[in-house]
This record gives sequence, C-alpha cells and structure tokens, in this order.
Amino acid sequence: MITPAVDAAAIDRAVEVLRRGGLVAVPTETVYGLAADADNEEAVRKLFAAKGRPSDHPVIVHVHDANAFDDWAVEVPDAARILSAAFWPGPLTLVLKRGARARDVLTGGQDSVGLRSPAHPWAQALLQAFDGALAAPSANSFGRISPTTAQHVIDDLGVKPRGKIDFVLDGGACPLGIESTIVDVRSDTPTLLRPGAITREQLQTALQRAVVDAGVQSPRTSGRLEKHYAPHTPLSVVPVDRLATVLSKPGKARIAVLAPLGLLQNCQADVSLAIAAPEQVDDYARLLYSWLHRLDASGADRMLVAAPPDGPQWEAVRDRLRRAETQ
Ligand code: TXA
Ligand code: MG
Repeated sequence: MITPAVDAAAIDRAVEVLRRGGLVAVPTETVYGLAADADNEEAVRKLFAAKGRPSDHPVIVHVHDANAFDDWAVEVPDAARILSAAFWPGPLTLVLKRGARARDVLTGGQDSVGLRSPAHPWAQALLQAFDGALAAPSANSFGRISPTTAQHVIDDLGVKPRGKIDFVLDGGACPLGIESTIVDVRSDTPTLLRPGAITREQLQTALQRAVVDAGVQSPRTSGRLEKHYAPHTPLSVVPVDRLATVLSKPGKARIAVLAPLGLLQNCQADVSLAIAAPEQVDDYARLLYSWLHRLDASGADRMLVAAPPDGPQWEAVRDRLRRAETQ
C-alpha cells in the first residue's frame, strides 16, 4: 500500500477552493472526506447539499492538532487530553462539549462537537496550508458506501460542472479503509459511539477506565442509523456453514460473494464476482469498501458476505457489515 508523495501544487489549489467556500475531497487514513471551511456557514451548507445529508446530522471538524481544543470545545476533560496524546493524529474522533466556534450548522444544533486530527500526509498538509479547520464527513452520498479511493468519490459525487464538488485531491487508496472510532468523552464514563481502527481495548488501556456502548438516548450519529453504508444490491451477512451450502449448488439468483478462499473453491452457484476474504483484520478493513463497491457493480441479484470472526479486533468490520446489510 503506497501513499503517493504530497503534491504541493494540488494542495495550494485545494486551499484556494476552500477559501472561496468550495468543496474538496481529501484522502484521510480512514476514508476520503469531503471538506469545507468549518468557519464558513454557507460552504458547510453546500457540503450537506452535495451529500444529500439531513441538516440535523453533525459533521466532524478536522483540526491540525490538539491545540484546537480551546477554540472548538469547552470543559475539555482529561480523557480528551489523554486520548489525543495517545492517538492523534489518527483515526479517532472525540466528542466534546462545543465551544463558540462550533456553530449549529456543524453540530446539527447539538451541544457537542466531534473533533479529529487526521494522520494522512495529504490531510495534514491541507490542514497546515489552509490554517483553519475543515468540516469533513465521508465523501459519499448520504447512506451510501464510503469512498476509499479518489475514483469512488468521482463515481459517486462527481466533479463540477457535471458533478457536485469542486476539486479532488488524489492521495491514493486509504490505508485503514474504515471510518474513525468515535468516543464521547463528556461524562466520566467514556462512550463508544462508533467502533473503528482504534479498538475499545486500546482506548481502555490509555484511559485506565471502561469505555461503554452508547445507550438509546445517545447523540444522533448517522453511523447509528439502522441502514447505512448501503450498496444498491441487497446484501446479507451469512454464517460460514450456511454460505457453504448455498455455494455448493446451482441457485436461481446470480450472486456476488465475499468469503474465505476455502468456501469459494468448487463453487456451483451462479456467481457474478467472488472475492477471497483475507484472514487478517487490517487487510479486510482496508479493502472492505472497495470490495463492496465492486461486488455492487458486478450485476448480481444479491450480495453474500461470509460472517467475519467474533474477536474484538473485528468489532468495526462487523459493525459496518451489519449496517450495510439489507434489513
Ligand atoms: O474517519 C472518519 O471519521 C471520516 C473521515 C473523513 O474523517 N469521516 C466520517 O464522517 O466518517 P461522517 O460524517 O461520514 O461520519 C461522522 C459521524 C456521523 O455519524 C456523525 O453523526 C458523527 O460522526 N458525529 C459528528 N459530530 C458528532 C457529535 N457532536 N456527536 C455525536 N456524533 C457526531
Ligand atoms: Mg459517512
């Protein structure tokens, strides 16, 4: 996995676009973000419109480093200092009590703000050159599969004049492939709002405290909607033994399948595309959204994904597959 060297001319162009209130797709280590100047209300509104995202869903504010806490948040607890020292820049979003700079348009009117300092060299270079903060949700239409390559962004949102966004920074495929871990640190008991590459164990080890799951009254997180990260083709996550049975005989439906190699051998089903799932969670997470995009485009009637392993390392992958699944 190679990240191309940062293209300084492209970063300069992106900064100009952002200063004018435009929208720029930017690679991060998790997924591509769609960035707008977080201090420009009109630009943030354009961002919501481009994604088709409801205005009450808060966006993450991307900052260069933890010095931004005092601008964007108030009553910053120790937990935020500990976690940012341990994991920033990186795939971790901290939900804090919002400060005056975090306007309603960013927070969906909530009393909190999500902050993240991304580690990807292109995102860091952009934040440094822009010298501000960037509102950046994942660069996909609301509810659809997140993009992990520049091409995914172009295929989904498109570039003006025919598409919806002004400029795309192509910094290669995202090295982690799944959105950041989101932790609400406002109370004494930190709450995991979205699992991600930073695992619950890592958070607990850093904090020396339990990190609990969100209750039903937790803040709105679009990642928490029942259906999200959804392909167009119906998707089911199937236990391995049941999938083995399905694949062992010809069926009526044309299927696209993601499963361990062993299951794909001697397959008798009508398959439009079969992808062998790796055993390592990092490899699986990095490529998951790319595979979902490809399986979705393969002309199948249904997509079948072998249930991933149970271990805690797989929590984020299981979460995204559950949300991609057709109810
Ligand atoms: O890895 C990531 O986090 C990527 C990259 C681009 O940074 N961004 C991302 O953004 O996944 P988005 O908007 O697709 O998902 C952010 C999630 C949403 O579900 C949103 O509701 C939640 O974060 N969120 C943002 N601010 C929040 C807040 N103040 N309280 C609770 N949830 C919040
Ligand atoms: Mg998203």
